[in-house]
Amino acid sequence: MARPAAGAGGTAGASDGRRFGVPARRATRASTVVRAAVNTLHLVVPISERVAPVPAGDASEVGEVLVGAEALQRRVRELADTISRDYAGRPLLLVGVLKGAVFFLSDLMRHIDIPVEVDFMAVASYGSATDSSGVVRILKDLDVAIEGRDVLIVEDIIDSGLTLQYLLRNLGSRDPASLEVCALLTKPDRRKVDLPARYVGFEIPDRFVIGYGLDYAERHRNLPFVAVLER
Ligand code: IMP
Ligand code: MG
Repeated sequence: MARPAAGAGGTAGASDGRRFGVPARRATRASTVVRAAVNTLHLVVPISERVAPVPAGDASEVGEVLVGAEALQRRVRELADTISRDYAGRPLLLVGVLKGAVFFLSDLMRHIDIPVEVDFMAVASYGSATDSSGVVRILKDLDVAIEGRDVLIVEDIIDSGLTLQYLLRNLGSRDPASLEVCALLTKPDRRKVDLPARYVGFEIPDRFVIGYGLDYAERHRNLPFVAVLER
């Protein structure tokens, strides 16, 4: 299971990041992963619904779990507490980057206890299935103007950093009162540009991960944990 070591430093300006130690568990078989996930769910729905998260044909793509469902929820709550404190008295606008950040954002927002609004952007980053090129196109822009507002971009993962670099420049040019980044995951070893990410959930090794919003070819976003893509 995930083993964040408190205070072990962030990267790329992350003041709130957590680093994994050497992976402490052997590769987990997909069936074990599914069983473990099901075991953590509350017994409020029938079995047939509870085993839904991993469609049979996809289970072989689910590898080692890097961040378990409970660790995710605990960390999201901590981030929300910190954000609530930092922005006290300043109405906050969360900008979610579709689609991967939706799951993280909705859990995060539920635990923020100051006035907060949400808007979304959709961007396409050209590149291969697992590498972004840095050439970014806006597919859906914000619905609201952000001039003079406190804006927090919520992302699923910072990989090369190129997508966020583009978003920071683009949104920064609209004169927000402040503009910060909250990313659930970061892969510091993959970074191509230095980024000031103020809030980071977990640092992970250079592996392609799926679950909790993160996809591989649009699959696996519905997993309640973050796992390595098995291929
Ligand atoms: P970047 O521009 O290289 O930082 O890539 C950012 C985007 O690539 C993220 O918002 C994700 O959509 C996607 N991405 C990067 N790494 C992963 C991964 O390990 N799993 C799933 N998606 C990823
Ligand atoms: Mg993606």
